[in-house]
Amino acid sequence: MAEQETEPQLVSIVSPSGRLLLRSPESADAVAILGNVTNPENVAYLPHLNHQYHTLEHYSELIQQWRNSSLVTNLFLVIVRRDDDKIIGDCKFESLSPEGGDWEVGDCSIMIDSAEQGKGYGQEALRTLFDYAFGTLGLDSLTMSTAEENLPMRGLAEKMGLHGRIEPKPPSGRHIVYRLAEENWCIKHGRVEI
Ligand SMILES: CC(C)(COP(=O)(O)OP(=O)(O)OC[C@H]1O[C@@H](n2cnc3c(N)ncnc32)[C@H](O)[C@@H]1OP(=O)(O)O)[C@@H](O)C(=O)NCCC(=O)NCCS
Repeated sequence: MAEQETEPQLVSIVSPSGRLLLRSPESADAVAILGNVTNPENVAYLPHLNHQYHTLEHYSELIQQWRNSSLVTNLFLVIVRRDDDKIIGDCKFESLSPEGGDWEVGDCSIMIDSAEQGKGYGQEALRTLFDYAFGTLGLDSLTMSTAEENLPMRGLAEKMGLHGRIEPKPPSGRHIVYRLAEENWCIKHGRVEI
């Protein structure tokens, strides 16, 4: 288990195929990130992102916050297609190390822009993120949850061998929660064994 950093650390990871770069956001990325979260198709199952703060100023501030808290309490990475340097989505760990002290659990989520979905980017980005979290960061376990109706995300999780549990989501509704421990992540074969 790796010790938690107290100073922010910016991150840059190339996926095994070399197709994608997962990196910490820069101020110039605000337009692309804003474009992704204001695309209704991208947030169909993410009602918490349907709010009034969709402005360039807000996302510029968020980027600064993400950079300042990178690998301190969370990790936010834009997903860049290296061929054309286009930001095609983002992924993140929130609630990193809620116990404090050591890396213990990360709450993971991902978004691929609707124009780029169905091309294997989501799977490749998540595998890259999981390998980094378990192999480099030394995270003990991670969680990922999604709305019960979010069939694309459920399909992606299942494709990666994750088994979720239906749990109540207050105040009403249900979601699927995936929990994955480091020892069940097989880096060598690039697949999950549970
Ligand atoms: C979920 C999401 C990340 C998937 O990304 P993606 O790049 O389209 O996924 P991939 O192309 O890597 O697909 C990998 C596997 O996921 C599953 N999958 C992808 N899209 C699916 C869909 N619409 N329905 C069912 N399964 C799907 C399939 O098993 C697929 O493998 P296959 O192509 O061999 O059949 C994407 O749909 C998305 O960003 N949605 C909006 C944001 C969101 O809801 N994020 C989840 C928050 S936790």
